[in-house]
Amino acid sequence: MYTPEMRESIAKVEASRARRMSERHPSLAPDERQDILKKFHPDFIADAFRALRVGANRGDKTPNELADVLEARSPIDSPAFDLNRVDIETDVLIIGGGGAGACAALLAQQAGARVLLATKLRFGDANTMMAQGGIQAADKENDSPAQHYLDVIGGGGFANDPDLVDALVSDAPMVIAWLESLGVMFEKTRDGEMVTIHGGGTSRKRMHFSRDYSGAEIMRVLRDEVRNRDSIRVIEFAPAIELVLNSRGQCAGAILQNIETGEHLLARAKTTIIATGGSGRLHYQNFPTTNHYGATADGLVLAYRAGAKLAFIDTMQYHPTGAAYPEQILGQLVTEKVRGLGAQVCNADGEQFVYPLETRDVESAAFIRECRERGRGIKTPTGQFGVWLDAPLIDRLRGVGTIAKELPAMVRQYKRFGIDLVKEPILVYPTLHYQNGGVAIKPDGATSVPNLFVAGEASGGVHGRNRLMGNSLLDVCVFGRRAGIAAAERAREYQDGAALTFDHLARWERARADAGLNDGIVAPILLPDYTRHGR
Ligand code: FUM
Repeated sequence: MYTPEMRESIAKVEASRARRMSERHPSLAPDERQDILKKFHPDFIADAFRALRVGANRGDKTPNELADVLEARSPIDSPAFDLNRVDIETDVLIIGGGGAGACAALLAQQAGARVLLATKLRFGDANTMMAQGGIQAADKENDSPAQHYLDVIGGGGFANDPDLVDALVSDAPMVIAWLESLGVMFEKTRDGEMVTIHGGGTSRKRMHFSRDYSGAEIMRVLRDEVRNRDSIRVIEFAPAIELVLNSRGQCAGAILQNIETGEHLLARAKTTIIATGGSGRLHYQNFPTTNHYGATADGLVLAYRAGAKLAFIDTMQYHPTGAAYPEQILGQLVTEKVRGLGAQVCNADGEQFVYPLETRDVESAAFIRECRERGRGIKTPTGQFGVWLDAPLIDRLRGVGTIAKELPAMVRQYKRFGIDLVKEPILVYPTLHYQNGGVAIKPDGATSVPNLFVAGEASGGVHGRNRLMGNSLLDVCVFGRRAGIAAAERAREYQDGAALTFDHLARWERARADAGLNDGIVAPILLPDYTRHGR
């Protein structure tokens, strides 16, 4: 599968392997980290960002592609819409069928609420399902939530919301026990102890995992559990396209759209939880992405139009090891667990140029520098650049058979294209992976819009300017659960009698007109437009 030029470079990686086995590349000093980020991380490309012209974050910078959808018009013709014809009534409406939505549904139902979960595609079509490497929790003797807290804050550039981080790390050990009680099969030793490894930026081995399909295993169990509970109703292929507020200014449900027929359903709810995930399919700066097909920032668009404040919308996460070759899997995730198990990163000359477990922002910036500035990347036949991830080193360090056992999904992914991960290095380059920011929340998921909660990747604040590996699966569970509990409680206190309105849309259109925005796109866009992006 590799070209002769690539084979030549691979020979150099193989030649340096025995020496590198005993080498530890030094990690960067704090000032070097800042320097490399400013020069090479995509968050610092000034003309890829612009200031928002409307809404609660007016004046704040965000990627151009996200600004387009945040400033967009609603698909709803509000004066013509009949808000008296309610199709579904529920206590708690959950928008999104990934890990956060499922956790929220379970906890809201347990708290006695009637729950409706509406999802754009199939229940489980979400970034949770695609997460590979694991979930962090400080539940070993040499570790503590306080230590986890310091790692999260350090990884996030000391910008994180401390209360959210506190919630994340404090709930983590309980979340692992809860997932296990539901049936998640984590990796264990023969005597039943959880196996944990490092991720980038972790000071302790606290990554729990299920081979290299941790997210699929967690989502499998959560989805089964939701389906087993009669008082949770799930509607698939029904994205929310607009929120509905009431005359008291509280969020009071959403308009769902049948994705096949275009028919609208008015779902009235006492409280609403947005759990729609991220926005990788907006392909910021034309990067490929690890994200699932529906990751188009829908929740941010809906919440923003309803008046919610967003946080950290100027920072995205580029996972260092996206597949750079072969072309068919461009941008797909090569789990950080590969580096966690000992794989090193090498340039075209077969030399290590960066410590393999720097935080993702720094690691990605180092890859970009090696290819763009130092000219030591490897060029593919389609003109992509990449660096080598020396996976075969893992079996040398940890024993033959480790790769096959620990990374079955990765091995299969490359075998389809005639590349043997056990024997050959693979080519990687940063890929758009995660939305570090989102809707600003409190530790119970509450937003600045009354009765509107947000959980998971659609929220912002917990990860600051850079999330650490394994804190996303944790985030969806911790804040999904918290939002489910809080939304059910708020629903119990809800006073009937307020009329439904689209007043927020009238306000939005006035603000757009004042800002001179008279046309522009309609959002949420729901699905990526590959004709426009030419992909
Ligand atoms: O590399 C990975 O397995 C990704 C994990 C994460 O984003 O948490």
